[in-house]
Amino acid sequence: MPAKWLKDAVFYEIYPQSFRDTNADGIGDLNGIIEKLDYVKSLGCNALWINPCFDSPFHDAGYDVRDYKKVASRYGANEDLYRLFDEAHKKGIRVLLDLVPGHTSEEHPWFRASQSADQPNEFTNRYIWTDNWFCGSNLNYIAGEAERPNAYIVNFFKCQPALNYGFLHPQERWQLPMNHPDCVATREAMKDVMRFWLSHGCDGFRVDMAASLVKYDDEVKSGTCAIWREVRSMLDREFPEAAIVAEWARPDLSLPAGFDMDFILNDPHTHYATLLRDYYAPVNNSWFKKDAPARDIHPFMDVYRRWYEQTKGAGYICLPTCNHDTPRPRFGLDETELKLAYAFIFTMPGVPFLYYGDEIGMRYQDSLPTKEGGYQRTGTRTPMQWDGGKNLGFSDADAEALYLPVDPAADAPTVAGQESEPDSLLNTVKALLKLRHGHEDLQADGAFEIVCSDPGQPFVYRRGGLLLAVNPAGKALAVKAPANGMSPIYAIGKASVDGENLVLGPQSFVVLG
Ligand code: NOJ
Repeated sequence: MPAKWLKDAVFYEIYPQSFRDTNADGIGDLNGIIEKLDYVKSLGCNALWINPCFDSPFHDAGYDVRDYKKVASRYGANEDLYRLFDEAHKKGIRVLLDLVPGHTSEEHPWFRASQSADQPNEFTNRYIWTDNWFCGSNLNYIAGEAERPNAYIVNFFKCQPALNYGFLHPQERWQLPMNHPDCVATREAMKDVMRFWLSHGCDGFRVDMAASLVKYDDEVKSGTCAIWREVRSMLDREFPEAAIVAEWARPDLSLPAGFDMDFILNDPHTHYATLLRDYYAPVNNSWFKKDAPARDIHPFMDVYRRWYEQTKGAGYICLPTCNHDTPRPRFGLDETELKLAYAFIFTMPGVPFLYYGDEIGMRYQDSLPTKEGGYQRTGTRTPMQWDGGKNLGFSDADAEALYLPVDPAADAPTVAGQESEPDSLLNTVKALLKLRHGHEDLQADGAFEIVCSDPGQPFVYRRGGLLLAVNPAGKALAVKAPANGMSPIYAIGKASVDGENLVLGPQSFVVLG
């Protein structure tokens, strides 16, 4: 059973480097997040996911953790994070931190001890070391870097040695079984990190690369799932309100394993990219693009519906507007298209996630040089655009000192600029979230049924007693729908009921009740 508070949760993801800098050093900080909690609340978001804010050499924007229990000094101190939990809770906002259980930084003291010439020690097997200076299996490994004469397996970048949770069916001498005391110690160490932050007031974790714990032969993920079930039992016993969301995009695996939520990511198997981000295809057929020549929501909906049916009651599927790894939706969609995309995301079952700045349609800055291992992701991580002041209200530092430059465009969207325009993207986001909070049928558990997902047609769906439809096309479309006797309670563009037909104006969205 997922945590009860998730029923009506809407998350706001904050990349802390770029949200709000209160001490003019050019980088965002925890006090900046505290300062903007009322803003988060004004959007209709009642939960935060903060990207890793722990001590790190920042070769992967903080996903290379050097000390799991210490806030990185550039963001403040542990006390600031505890205060953030308190202040957020006072406003009815929950806070998820980012847990990186699959790997650490190569500068983590566990790894420094593990790689040292002084063997054996407590951390000899905390990472996955081969018995030679080469690996010989299909895992990514680094040789020639350690003092000890072995190669180590990495999870992602070279700087991220993989923690050792053991192997399901060890085949080589260097592969330890999952129940080896040293692998059990890795699991316990990660639980200890979770307990530390939960007991200081955090509400749970977004779990980085949740599928990555057990390597190699864990193809159906039974080993990794067994670990998450063990973590869930600990949470149920000690922190029953805590919620965990997986970065996995396999809710059929992650939710039965104890996660409360899982993201639908832009991985090819989800087809989610074809909805908002089809821009790398030869022809952009993003479902929400007004002039997409051959839009088709079916491939996505087939996957979504299957997972929804399989996991109903076990946990929630999360649709994000974007995240810190993906080009922003504004890259391929204009403001009206974004309104329709968000109307869809915020009225689907499960728990939606809004990435900071997407509410005002911040642009993807595609020509920026890489920052902290961001590479092409860097353009999605630029400073939040608050107002027309210095550095668009992000920071009082000199422009050259900023973590990343702010959007240089003369028409860069800002919160202040959009707050005063009734029809802005920002105000549309607020209206949609208000609508969601006002109707239980639109929240996480409200029933969901597809009425029409045919290619070239509007998408029509039921949420409990409500009927909803999106027509992204630039022309009016009529679709057969059981709307008789119903009338619009919210609309973008024009929509009307004509007997057995629902008539949807160009680029429109409607909720009928
Ligand atoms: C997924 C995170 O979202 C990404 O930003 C990071 O680089 C990798 N995991 C490695 O931790």
